[in-house]
Amino acid sequence: MLPSSNSLPRRKFITLNGLLAAGTFLGFGLQKGWSQVVQQTQKVLRVVAGFTGPRYYGAEEKEGLLQVVESRYPFRYKGHTPTQVRLFEQEFTTYMGSTYCLAVTSGTAALNCAMAALGVGPGDEVIVPACTWWSDYTTVVQAGALPVFADIDTSLNIDPADVERKISPRTKAIIVVHLLGSSCNMDALMDLARRYRLQVVEDCAQSPGATYKGQKLGTLGDIGIYSFNIYKLMTAGEGGALVTHSEELFFKAARYHDMGYLHRVFDMAATQNLMPECPGENYRMSEFTGAVLRAQLPKLDTMIRDLRQRKKVIYQGIAALSGIAFRHYDDAEGETGAYIHLLLPDSTSRDRWLEALQAWQLPVTEVSGSVVLPIQESVLNKRTRHPQWPSFSTPEGKSIVYGPESCQPTLDVYNRMLQLNVGAGFTPDEIRYCIASIQAVADTLRGVHS
Ligand SMILES: Cc1ncc(COP(=O)(O)O)c(C=O)c1O
Repeated sequence: MLPSSNSLPRRKFITLNGLLAAGTFLGFGLQKGWSQVVQQTQKVLRVVAGFTGPRYYGAEEKEGLLQVVESRYPFRYKGHTPTQVRLFEQEFTTYMGSTYCLAVTSGTAALNCAMAALGVGPGDEVIVPACTWWSDYTTVVQAGALPVFADIDTSLNIDPADVERKISPRTKAIIVVHLLGSSCNMDALMDLARRYRLQVVEDCAQSPGATYKGQKLGTLGDIGIYSFNIYKLMTAGEGGALVTHSEELFFKAARYHDMGYLHRVFDMAATQNLMPECPGENYRMSEFTGAVLRAQLPKLDTMIRDLRQRKKVIYQGIAALSGIAFRHYDDAEGETGAYIHLLLPDSTSRDRWLEALQAWQLPVTEVSGSVVLPIQESVLNKRTRHPQWPSFSTPEGKSIVYGPESCQPTLDVYNRMLQLNVGAGFTPDEIRYCIASIQAVADTLRGVHS
């Protein structure tokens, strides 16, 4: 049962007073909108952001799945007949403004294909952000190369200045991760890549459809990868894709994703020997996944629009609050996240904010979907699946030191960041409730700090 205002614990009661003050500040006064907020507040509205992609499931996804069932042929290759997966690859290529697209079973699979296509292997170093999802680290290790971490900055993305500090003669590539819907500083990173002749993998798992200066993320570097697991915007539960403008990289990835074979559907007779047959994996996407993704892709812009509308109103409601700042965006126009990130002065105030907003049942968390990798136990101890694995057996691999001292700027940003998860289906009441609760907490905590 939801607590009534009488049964609210003291902290919540104090916050309710703050909330009333917030309503006055926001100009709701006793207008209809504000009285609704108070009513909702007395009930302690539980705001749930939910998964984005599945919200938009409808007749199109059902129809696509039905077609696959009725075809009795859920496999991606059928001679030259266009299958759901092949059509998805073509449609995704067009949407992204890329030249080639390879559909695979996950974002991790796409990263593994990227490592194989770029020829990353023992003796190579790959620069990876210190805060991202595991796959950016594990795929480098699985390739036998050495992951070298660069710190993130207040954009939550890799800091180009630290990337430059981490470049060595052995650096082969940088994995730039556009975390939680927002682009890295691509001008600075591409400039480094050109000057030092490095290959760039753009990990867009968390930012499909986002842009940098008008260009879709994933198409600026050598290879872009995407994930379609449930936490991402468009989703089939699982799935992934790789895009590139390079014929050579595409062939290499395509071969690697299918045990070293290059199926004739790719129609690449002239260049198919760019990567001769060699051991690969089975990362072939199923037709069921392809069908759902084909239905989701035309809805991606609507998902992004719905999220942007809601974030804009919340931002406008809380932008003037004193004592908090926000995540820095390298291109705010192109951002697509289902989040608003507040940057607090220190980790103690972040934790207080988190507790206070959670008490109001707001969907707030620490930075989600990523970990600070250098402090994870298996990273610290350089664990591999075999003791002689090449990643850490080179002199550089032996001498590299991970751990908290190696990533202080990352830990500082991570521990000060608070994430409000925004739902594409947030109602006006829920949006008002979010704004009012944040304002109320700001008022209350201002007292605590002064
Ligand atoms: C930044 C990033 N890269 C890669 C991946 C891997 O994607 P998948 O889960 O589809 O393997 C994820 C998934 O969460 C991710 O967030």
